[in-house]
Amino acid sequence: MSDRYSLLILPGDGIGPEVMAEVVKVIDWLGAHRGMAFDVTQDLVGGAAYDAHGVPLTDATMAKAQAVDAVLLGAVGGPKYDVLDFAVKPERGLLRLRKELDLFANLRPAQCFDALADFSSLKREVVAGLDILIVRELTSGVYFGEPRGIHADDNGDNEGGRVGINTQRYTSGEIRRVARSAFELAKKRRGKVCSMEKANVMESGILWREETQWVHDNEFPDVELTHMYADNGLMQLVRQPRQFDVILTDNLFGDLLSDAAAMLTGSLGMLPSASLGAPMANGRPRAMYEPVHGSAPDIAGQGKANPIACILSFAMALRYSFGEGAAADALEAAVERVLAEGVRTADLMGPDGGTPVSTAEMGDRIVAALAAEA
Ligand code: NAI
Ligand code: MG
Repeated sequence: MSDRYSLLILPGDGIGPEVMAEVVKVIDWLGAHRGMAFDVTQDLVGGAAYDAHGVPLTDATMAKAQAVDAVLLGAVGGPKYDVLDFAVKPERGLLRLRKELDLFANLRPAQCFDALADFSSLKREVVAGLDILIVRELTSGVYFGEPRGIHADDNGDNEGGRVGINTQRYTSGEIRRVARSAFELAKKRRGKVCSMEKANVMESGILWREETQWVHDNEFPDVELTHMYADNGLMQLVRQPRQFDVILTDNLFGDLLSDAAAMLTGSLGMLPSASLGAPMANGRPRAMYEPVHGSAPDIAGQGKANPIACILSFAMALRYSFGEGAAADALEAAVERVLAEGVRTADLMGPDGGTPVSTAEMGDRIVAALAAEA
């Protein structure tokens, strides 16, 4: 490909810069050996941005994020910033990025690497070979719907005299756009979408079911679409997770389903994510990629962090933002190979011990395995 790929790297706080340094090794290797032209810019986010500028994300950084093909973020936050006002907390930087880029589709893969199958909370035979993708609507639903709040409610016999309100609200447009993302992704995978809601008890669930079916029938008739009640979906996820390819669901159910799916595959240090928005002028979706884990202040600065979650997040960028599916496959295969060789950061050590490698060593081994893939 002759395209240039523009990438804004925001390492953030705690272990963010440590794991991001390993991704930069991968980027440099792909540039030098696979002829990919990356235009990489680095900037500050979270506590690091607060320390330098008094805000967790400057307007200038936001403008850069708007201009690139993809944003890659490490992690934000740390005990030092817990005392800050809500408006300038590190998390606000992350939320501003998600909101202003309008990243409505959150992708959380749950992939079981064979070498780590015994880390799962489920039996090896249930999770071996697992490869599913949860697509969660991220910008609407009950976490955002109005009216909301806690109010006095002292009519009649309400003990305590208050009411707490949140509103699950979805428009057809919001459902259709995230459904399109899920169908597009399924086309590049095994061609199956299972949509989960509670159409049996929620009107927003009925609309969700009708609109996902509409998008399927009118735009993606070749992708298989099934519907499942979300409570049954969660049961199926822990009973027989390999029945799924892409799971499409709303913000609330997706929060629960994706956290449960994470436990099927083991350590937090292994889990990547992507958040996608509408297509830009060049046809690529607005996108931000980040590991699921946080800034891990308990191990920050010690060279102990597992860089794989961040490296796999970059593999998702290769696949979904840059159309480099073969390179993404090769990078994932390199991770699989290094794990199969028994290379482990401290978070992946079993009870029988062994000697863990450092963050930098894990990165070096993955780059070496990538070089050996071809
Ligand atoms: P955390 O994910 O940072 O850490 C939880 C546990 O997992 C810790 O014991 C940590 O050492 C371990 N861990 C996490 N990532 C690891 C990795 N790559 N390799 C090895 N071990 C790893 O969550 P926690 O402790 O609840 O939050 C710490 C800080 O991170 C807080 O300030 C929190 O607000 C922030 N945070 C930020 C997120 C983000 O930037 N997206 C997400 C979650 C938390
Ligand atoms: Mg959660």
